[in-house]
Amino acid sequence: MRNDKLFFCVFLFFFFCLELSRGQNNGKTQVNVGVVTDVGTSYSEAAMLCINMSLADFYSSRPQFQTRLVVNVGDSKKDVVGAAIAALDLIKNKQVKAILGPWTSMQAHFLIEIGQKSQVPIVSFSATSPFLNSLRSPYFFRATYEDSSQVEAIKAFIKLFGWREVVPVYIDNTFGEGIMPRLTDALQDINVRIPYRSVIALNATDTEISVELLKMMNRPTRVFIVHMYSSLASRFFIKAKEIGLMKAGYVWILTNGVTDVLSSINETGIEAMDGVLGIKTYIQKSQDLDKFRSRWRKIFPRLELTVYGLWAYDATTVLEIAIEEAGTNNMTFSNVVDTGRNVSELEALGLSQFGPKLLETLSKVQFRGLGGDFRFVNGQLQPSVFEIVNMIGTGEKTIGFWTEGNGLVKQLDQQPSSMSALSTWQDHLKQKIWPGEADSVPKGWEIPTNGKKLHIGVPKKIGFTDLVKVTRDPITNSTVVTGFCIDFFEVVIQAMPYDVSYEFIPFEKPDGKAAGSYNEMVHQVYLGRYDAIVGDTTVLANRRSKERQC
Ligand SMILES: *[C@@H]1O[C@H](CO)[C@@H](O)[C@H](O)[C@H]1NC(C)=O
Ligand SMILES: *[C@@H]1O[C@H](CO)[C@@H](O)[C@H](O)[C@H]1NC(C)=O
Ligand SMILES: *[C@@H]1O[C@H](CO)[C@@H](O)[C@H](O)[C@H]1NC(C)=O
Ligand SMILES: *[C@@H]1O[C@H](CO)[C@@H](O)[C@H](O)[C@H]1NC(C)=O
Ligand SMILES: *[C@@H]1O[C@H](CO)[C@@H](O)[C@H](O)[C@H]1NC(C)=O
Ligand SMILES: *[C@@H]1O[C@H](CO)[C@@H](O)[C@H](O)[C@H]1NC(C)=O
Repeated sequence: MRNDKLFFCVFLFFFFCLELSRGQNNGKTQVNVGVVTDVGTSYSEAAMLCINMSLADFYSSRPQFQTRLVVNVGDSKKDVVGAAIAALDLIKNKQVKAILGPWTSMQAHFLIEIGQKSQVPIVSFSATSPFLNSLRSPYFFRATYEDSSQVEAIKAFIKLFGWREVVPVYIDNTFGEGIMPRLTDALQDINVRIPYRSVIALNATDTEISVELLKMMNRPTRVFIVHMYSSLASRFFIKAKEIGLMKAGYVWILTNGVTDVLSSINETGIEAMDGVLGIKTYIQKSQDLDKFRSRWRKIFPRLELTVYGLWAYDATTVLEIAIEEAGTNNMTFSNVVDTGRNVSELEALGLSQFGPKLLETLSKVQFRGLGGDFRFVNGQLQPSVFEIVNMIGTGEKTIGFWTEGNGLVKQLDQQPSSMSALSTWQDHLKQKIWPGEADSVPKGWEIPTNGKKLHIGVPKKIGFTDLVKVTRDPITNSTVVTGFCIDFFEVVIQAMPYDVSYEFIPFEKPDGKAAGSYNEMVHQVYLGRYDAIVGDTTVLANRRSKERQC
């Protein structure tokens, strides 16, 4: 009996020691990976927390795994060169086998070159510019959606409402311009014209933004696609509202660059965006995601969890899986020191021998992440659904979805057969509001009048007034113009593809008598007193020469 117990205790002790020794050196192969990020910013902090949570969650549920990632942080100092220096330092001094990050597409440019030269995969969860594809580096992976993937959703939208002209508004950098090639092509497909582009500097002053907005106001196109960072978008919309571009008649469409991070915009900014439409990254609902969100709210109640946090978590998971699968051989760099020759910093890095194998396993990993099914296709994630949102008051409302198979639908489970060829926009989207609470779909085009209305002359007549009749409202003393010609004019204006605001001005003397003959009235158009005339006028040769085009 006693002996048995003793034996059991000894056995337990032995086992405990074994576990302890394992705990100390872990019995695991530690693999250095780098994170290049803008240390000190709130978005970077949230992403770091997600990376750390992934490491903890992943290995605690997979104790049998032989590798353990060790994260080394490099500060890019919110700078392109800073990011490159941080990456070089991580590769040289920590021999990292992969790098998570960097934050922006501009920073990614350099890093992709460095990754390619040294065979260190770069896995970014936030650099979304399509331009990065043109570098064609197999060592670059994008654990996020590339910006131009939402272009088809924008196109479907513009087609649905039948707008003929669209003006893109974007930041003049790699991020902003990245979407343009595919957007231009997509709009060309449906014969939608881009009359001009509005390009805004990231550090534009409020005055510069106002000048650009006034330019937009003075041109007829009223449909704008805004692709910029949320910080700039916030200032932009506050100014737009101030100047009067958030009124009825205007259409604003935001890309997911803004709608995915609305939480970073303050209430003033959000309210200025009332009536704006947006394309938003769709994240499939799941129990894991719900659990993660509620955990996050408990631990970091004040820190917002954005879609980039979810991508950061999933990007870390993909590295954990791929590195385990790549095994523990070949963990060195070749040609590291080459003292004899004068070599560049880049050449001095050498080649990660682990690189080719890691590349292979990274490309094959598939799992169910927080952001949905995770699988690299041509080195990046491929979305098949986007959410359509409408900014209302102090928040956003989902008014539909865009799916690869069915286009715009109100609900994801909506049957495409319930939408006939003659369907209206209400069959595809839920009720939405437009800027200025316009009660009909804006026409997207307006004769810019700077708030002035077109002056339409009407004849003051005595006798036969079925065609035009001018009276004065006895209470308000305002002019009331009625008659067949007026009804006809109003129907024509309604049918025009753009909005026109106008007022009727009777051709009369202060005493209310007609101010002259028809010929004299038509002459007023030539003189510029009227922009046009409505009435039972006959177009005669001598009159026509005097008509002005408006
Ligand atoms: C995440 O983990 C790294 C490495 O262990 C550590 O340096 C960093 O402070 C952690 N970051 C946060 C935000 O907890
Ligand atoms: C914005 O930045 C550019 C270059 O980075 C500089 O030339 C320009 O003067 C800056 N503009 C303002 C208003 O700060
Ligand atoms: C909200 O943000 C805008 C632009 O970013 C800024 O100008 C404004 O002062 C902010 N308002 C408040 C109340 O913080
Ligand atoms: C390396 O290049 C620098 C300047 O490019 C030169 O001054 C130096 O002498 C070179 N060293 C060797 C060992 O060639
Ligand atoms: C190490 O990597 C090189 C190529 O980088 C490969 O040729 C070699 O077979 C690898 N060695 C092992 C043991 O995997
Ligand atoms: C009514 O309006 C006309 C023109 O706008 C003006 O000449 C006239 O004095 C006004 N009459 C009254 C009673 O206000």
